[in-house]
Amino acid sequence: MNLILFGAPGSGKGTQAEKLKDKYQIPHISTGDMFRKAVEDKSELARQLKDIMESGKLVPDKLVIDVVNERLKKEDCIKGFILDGFPRTLIQGQALENILGEKRIEVVLYIELSEKETVKRLSGRRGCSDCKAGYHVVFQPPKKENVCDRCSGPLFQRDDDKEDTIIQRLKVYNGETAPLVDYYQKQGILEEINGNVSVDEVFNQLCKVIDDK
Ligand code: AP5
Ligand code: MG
Repeated sequence: MNLILFGAPGSGKGTQAEKLKDKYQIPHISTGDMFRKAVEDKSELARQLKDIMESGKLVPDKLVIDVVNERLKKEDCIKGFILDGFPRTLIQGQALENILGEKRIEVVLYIELSEKETVKRLSGRRGCSDCKAGYHVVFQPPKKENVCDRCSGPLFQRDDDKEDTIIQRLKVYNGETAPLVDYYQKQGILEEINGNVSVDEVFNQLCKVIDDK
């Protein structure tokens, strides 16, 4: 099953992709996670990527498309994959169709959440520096403050989860990414999911749509 998890920043894509990956045994491909890993490098490209991400802008289409093209060639994608954070522009959407060739996306799962709620989710988000498990200071707090339940690693806040950057990311989403809703609606593969309920309830809605396909 080839899936796209779509939605505004903070709508819960990463949280749900990790659960879907375990249930359906297909890889979770997050361009954001891939770029965050790439910026740990000391290269000039890494420095440029870091600046782009910290300002809440988009990484250039060509670079993103090349990265996804390489990733989808890997053997673990044969049985399917979950794309999270890609495509994010109409150009990326069209490029994905070229990359897939004969294959196709079965469903685009659009997690809908109000802007007010996404801001609350992003400003309270924390992640484990070691195992990358996700938390939220109010909605999914760790048992011990700033310590990961799973591996006891320290929790961190993403550099782009600061207020100014959140506002910029939402602006970019509304301008460049939201038009993909219409694009996939016209193809008849968009499914709307209510994101304003608990993690488990969102997950149940997603599984129902996938299992009905
Ligand atoms: P990326 O990493 O993709 O960020 P994003 O799209 O802004 O989405 P987020 O990861 O912020 O949110 P999410 O939907 O995954 O929410 P989460 O599950 O964490 O991209 C980062 C940057 O990389 C971009 O700005 C850009 O610069 C670059 N980039 C990446 N892809 C690109 C592309 N294709 N083209 C160009 N540039 C690209 O949940 C959020 C919080 O809410 C968490 O704390 C979680 O615990 C909590 N939560 C989740 N679900 C619930 C629930 N149901 N109830 C209560 N709390 C919940
Ligand atoms: Mg994410």
